[in-house]
Amino acid sequence: MHAHRFKIQLALALCLAGIGSATTAQTATDLNARSLAATCANCHGTDGRSVEGAAVPSLAGMPKAYMMAQMKAFKDGTRPATIMHQLSKGFNDQQVETIATYFSALKPQK
Ligand code: HEC
Repeated sequence: MHAHRFKIQLALALCLAGIGSATTAQTATDLNARSLAATCANCHGTDGRSVEGAAVPSLAGMPKAYMMAQMKAFKDGTRPATIMHQLSKGFNDQQVETIATYFSALKPQK
């Protein structure tokens, strides 16, 4: 009887522990993505939504593959730029992918 109850509690504890660690990992990833993406906000607007009529394009809702290709082109100089060629050099491929994933999931600007 007692042993049975212990087993249930143990199962429950393991289950909760599993959920707890998954949530922590998720939050850390999210925070990393948000802080990387925040470095773009100065020019591209909060959450990648630039002001209407601004020269700097919006990033929110930009397809991931497109953004990754542009960042690569800025980096290797195939796409001419005023500032992005310098900025893009500050991020490695993994970070660019994280940033592109983040922005592609945001709702595009109307
Ligand atoms: C200092 C201002 C500034 C910051 C910060 C900045 N950008 Fe840009 N971005 C620009 C400008 C200006 C352009 C237009 C190209 C150029 O002249 O460099 C541009 C263009 C782009 C484009 C091309 C858009 C298109 O429609 O093809 C992408 C993608 C981009 N930026 C991504 C980013 C990302 C990702 C970040 C953050 C890691 C970032 N930018 C940070 C100023 C900025």
